[in-house]
Amino acid sequence: MTTRPIPSTQEALPVIGCGTWMGFDVAAGSAEHQRLPGVLDALFAAGGKLIDSSPMYGRAEAMTGELLAAAGHRDNAFLATKVWTSGREAGIAQMAQSFQRLRTEHIDLMQVHNLVDWRTHLETLRGWQEQGRVRYLGITHYTSSAYAEVEAVLREQKLDFLQINYSLDAREAEQRLLPLAAERGVAVIANMPFGGGSLMRRLRGKPLPGWAAEIGCASWAQLLLKFVLSHPAVTCTIPGTSRPEHMADNAAAGAGGFPDAAFWQRHAHSIDR
Ligand SMILES: NC(=O)c1ccc[n+]([C@@H]2O[C@H](COP(=O)([O-])OP(=O)(O)OC[C@H]3O[C@@H](n4cnc5c(N)ncnc54)[C@H](OP(=O)(O)O)[C@@H]3O)[C@@H](O)[C@H]2O)c1
Repeated sequence: MTTRPIPSTQEALPVIGCGTWMGFDVAAGSAEHQRLPGVLDALFAAGGKLIDSSPMYGRAEAMTGELLAAAGHRDNAFLATKVWTSGREAGIAQMAQSFQRLRTEHIDLMQVHNLVDWRTHLETLRGWQEQGRVRYLGITHYTSSAYAEVEAVLREQKLDFLQINYSLDAREAEQRLLPLAAERGVAVIANMPFGGGSLMRRLRGKPLPGWAAEIGCASWAQLLLKFVLSHPAVTCTIPGTSRPEHMADNAAAGAGGFPDAAFWQRHAHSIDR
């Protein structure tokens, strides 16, 4: 799988990861639960690393911790989670719980989820970063109505990562946030690359355009992920899935090249249709 450097350290990060919202929030012993070890196996087998969770995602953090421990995979993973509460003490308590749930001594990336009380948590996290409890820190959001605030934080604070929504049908981040992240030396994780799943539902059963083969895409998922990764400011993307075959499909988009903006422009008419 292709890797891209995290600007603040130059550490190489594989371009496809795995989101855990919904898909990993499942009951122990359920049919969905039985499938999850295969999802992580498919991610690691393809050379992927990043797993993104949050205390907001119900059982997902604990499930991720359990799966990584059971398979002895912690060292293969780049673990990202979030803090999603208000107040210094509440933030510390929630993050401490995340360490427990993820069954780890260090978290690779801790993000302030949807900018909730970001100033307070970033201050805590800078101390934790110095102590080595978290390696990187960042902020997240998922909707363009928050972009002005995201931009203000990006300009004011020194961050390692920005996680933001970006997909073929949600391209507003191209206008200001992606160029600004590049200028500020901030890695970008693109979330919701399938529009939260709505794009995949709309495309189901439709034939792939002939030009998909030119860029090595054998599925709609791969085409949508190649699009997201074509933007030079994007470091990686984290499609959410609970199915091993989907994880393998998604991971395959991280191999081979990525077309330039002119390619997508040439096919804009077909894309609009
Ligand atoms: N504010 C935030 O911080 C924030 C907000 C949103 C998302 N996120 C993060 O970003 C991740 C990704 O976003 P998302 O999960 O909301 O949406 P998404 O990745 O755009 O779409 C996920 C949906 O696509 C389906 N899917 C995945 N791979 C597929 C494939 N190869 N073929 C067909 N269908 C496929 C999944 O179903 P299956 O399970 O059946 O594969 C799921 O329904 C989240 O899981 C979360 O970690 C963060």
